[in-house]
Amino acid sequence: MTEVIRDVATLRMLQGTWRRAGESIGLVPTMGALHAGHMALVQAAREECAHVIATVFVNPTQFSPSEDLDAYPDVFDADLQLLRDNRVDVCFAPTRDIMYPDGFATTVRVSGLTDHLCGATRPGHFDGVTQVVAKLLNLGAADRAYFGQKDWQQLAVVRQMARDLNFPTEIVGVPTVRAADGLALSSRNVYLTEAEREIAPVLNRTLRNAAAQIARGHGAAGVCEASARALIEAGFSSVDYLECRDAQTLAAQERPNPGTARVFAAAKLGKARLIDNVAVG
Ligand code: PAF
Repeated sequence: MTEVIRDVATLRMLQGTWRRAGESIGLVPTMGALHAGHMALVQAAREECAHVIATVFVNPTQFSPSEDLDAYPDVFDADLQLLRDNRVDVCFAPTRDIMYPDGFATTVRVSGLTDHLCGATRPGHFDGVTQVVAKLLNLGAADRAYFGQKDWQQLAVVRQMARDLNFPTEIVGVPTVRAADGLALSSRNVYLTEAEREIAPVLNRTLRNAAAQIARGHGAAGVCEASARALIEAGFSSVDYLECRDAQTLAAQERPNPGTARVFAAAKLGKARLIDNVAVG
């Protein structure tokens, strides 16, 4: 039975009990609207840890005023059922006041890795992510915390933060879960109309195609430019970025060594902003 906890004291008490018994804890931070991609994180946590805490909190500080915070899907009952079906021990679902009480004044910023890709196109987004993840790592006192590789840059930023600030939690990346046609599962896919859902898998196909060309020795800049044009021709309304970058440092790459780089993209399709990334070689 998944216990719903909304306050910090109860979460800490339960963790203390597990810790004293020498039992490991896995943390799965989410913003709700859960799908099979989140369940892959839960599954990984269940395999490696005695207890799993999933957090459901739509973090306002990682949305800019022009983004979809108010429209973000809120389906808590369905989320809880899914967590129960997947035998999660605790669903930590705090209110905004619990996470950011009056007078909250602390920012956590990772520089460098946040200069590019979503960091450049969504200014302030990663400051919100690191702020809330730092809090969740402290509250969750987990041995391991699980993040999806679809948000590759987020994973890199969180890893850097955990290393720099000596969080004892191991940050684990879990492969992207895709629909049969290649579309990466995302809570924001619910924004897609039926017609847009038909177009959406072109993103992954285009990235795979771009990665294959770069792996064959074509210059990344030209390949990425042509790929961005192909997305627009397929029906995407705009492309925030489509770039080849080092998988670890996120530095731009023109002719990367096999296995060291990825092609990253964010593109808008109707109301949805889709992101994806694939390995080169
Ligand atoms: O990936 C997400 O859902 C969010 O960015 C996270 C890590 C839960 C922080 O709010």
